[in-house]
Amino acid sequence: MTEKKPVFPSSTLQVPPTCSIPRHVAIIMDGNGRWAKKRFLPRVAGHRRGVETVRDVTKACIDLGIEYLTLFAFSSENWRRPQEEVSVLQQLFLMALEQEIGKLDRNAIRLRIIGDIEPFGERVVELAKRAEEKTAHHTRLTLTIAANYGGRWDLLQAVNKLVRMHPGRTEDFTEEMLAPLLAMNHAPEPDLFIRTGGEQRISNFLLWHLAYTELYFTPKLWPDFDQKSLKEAIEWYFARERRFGRTSEQVNNGGELVSSSDLSPNRTS
Ligand code: IPE
Ligand code: IPE
Ligand code: MG
Repeated sequence: MTEKKPVFPSSTLQVPPTCSIPRHVAIIMDGNGRWAKKRFLPRVAGHRRGVETVRDVTKACIDLGIEYLTLFAFSSENWRRPQEEVSVLQQLFLMALEQEIGKLDRNAIRLRIIGDIEPFGERVVELAKRAEEKTAHHTRLTLTIAANYGGRWDLLQAVNKLVRMHPGRTEDFTEEMLAPLLAMNHAPEPDLFIRTGGEQRISNFLLWHLAYTELYFTPKLWPDFDQKSLKEAIEWYFARERRFGRTSEQVNNGGELVSSSDLSPNRTS
């Protein structure tokens, strides 16, 4: 929360280097409730099991050399759920923070939390701050948890900051001015997005950042998602051709798109 982070260029302006493994994987962990229902268990049993999957997938990401893993844990729309379920989800988040800080630190994982966590209470805010500070220097994996996060909330808070930073400005703002004010300014944009649970929607996740992310949907329910499932998603990713607006021929000829001027409609060369 406190340290200064490098600003990554927008992938719509600069193509990230092609490397064998996606640098940043962002996941909507969906299907906990259905997993529990299938077993005649209460929905919260699915959420508990889902926390175990978080541990397994985090470890799998480290083993695969993924640098950034971002997980959607609670959306700004999830407040609409029954109060009882909301409070169990909050408790699980609090317990995970309490129990995992040491483990994250020992495993050289940097933790970041994005979203408006104040409504979760002082204890959560305090623990989140402590966990982020304690793990800030780690570089093996950056694990970002999106809690009470919404893509629209993120865009609005960034625009509000920008306007406050430039009172009276009449010129247009640019992407480069807005992007560093978004909650995920500590990571490059996701290369691979995964949604478990069969739905094919973004559900107000990283609206800005998913502009050119490869989108992978699997019917597998989150508690059933394992290392093998992650590898399957990555195999699928390897087969994508990331064109970022260019033709296939340009991509295959190694055509680079390196600056925002390349996006100018008046460019002739
Ligand atoms: C995802 O699983 C977890 C959260 C949204 C917190 P769900 O609880 O949405 O599970 P389904 O979609 O009802 O099966
Ligand atoms: C998205 O799952 C949010 C999280 C996984 C935290 P939901 O289950 O809430 O999504 P919708 O409402 O079905 O789109
Ligand atoms: Mg769901």
